[in-house]
Amino acid sequence: MTGHDALREYAGKQLVSFLRKGDFAHAGEEKAIDLAFSTVSHKPKQTILDVGCGLGGTAAYIQNHHLGQVTGLDIEKEAIVYAQQKYPEITFHCCDVVNAAQIITQQFDLICLFNAFYAFSDQLAALKTLNKLINTKGKIIIFDYSNPDSRKITPLFSAGDKNTSPFKPVSFQGIDSLLEQSGWQLSKKIDISLQYIQWYTQLIDRLLGNESEIIRLFSQSLFQKAVTTYSSIKESLVKGLLGGILLYAEKA
Ligand SMILES: C[S@@+](CC[C@H](N)C(=O)[O-])C[C@H]1O[C@@H](n2cnc3c(N)ncnc32)[C@H](O)[C@@H]1O
Repeated sequence: MTGHDALREYAGKQLVSFLRKGDFAHAGEEKAIDLAFSTVSHKPKQTILDVGCGLGGTAAYIQNHHLGQVTGLDIEKEAIVYAQQKYPEITFHCCDVVNAAQIITQQFDLICLFNAFYAFSDQLAALKTLNKLINTKGKIIIFDYSNPDSRKITPLFSAGDKNTSPFKPVSFQGIDSLLEQSGWQLSKKIDISLQYIQWYTQLIDRLLGNESEIIRLFSQSLFQKAVTTYSSIKESLVKGLLGGILLYAEKA
């Protein structure tokens, strides 16, 4: 198992939450949500689906900021049990994104994904399923890692298998056709790689600055895995082998 996978397991997610000072497992924490929603109007009654919601902090932040009525879904049972207990005002479902249309009968005005899309093994199938869950004129926001240059690939790339999760950054060029094939029309594609570098620099500083507390609360090996993982992500970002992307698309 790679260090990156260890951070995606439940104990790893708790360490990530500690570091990110909230139930978030995406780059930039609240700043990233504010950025992604900066063009979304405040309509407390609009319905929003947060896909790959993890521990539920993003869903709660969105709802508490009166952006809409949020539903969360995630494949990991322990994360959903935690989210349901901590944020009872929000509905959460436990399922694989590709089966979501069988579990969730409602349609949404907006779908958002924060660092979840890169972890899907079948990204096209996920987009097709999400297209069934969106209202006419509904929108999708994808905030994620990107592959800025299709001729080069980060050493972190992994298609995943039954023991490991995928790490498949969104292809900056290829995403247009993936959206088109799945019933979405791209409206805006923003390169946020510089913000990713800044966010990962701050995260590594926080990690190293809290070494003894992290080892006491978690373990030496988890601390070490976090250092290795975040350092290799930052290295790929700085070399331009990895980036950040913010995508907006509408139901075609
Ligand atoms: C890096 S975490 C991000 C969590 C959350 N969006 C946040 O920002 O805090 C990625 C999440 O995607 C979930 N995930 C991965 N593959 C999934 C799938 N096929 N269906 C649903 N959720 C999935 C993982 O369990 C994990 O909670």
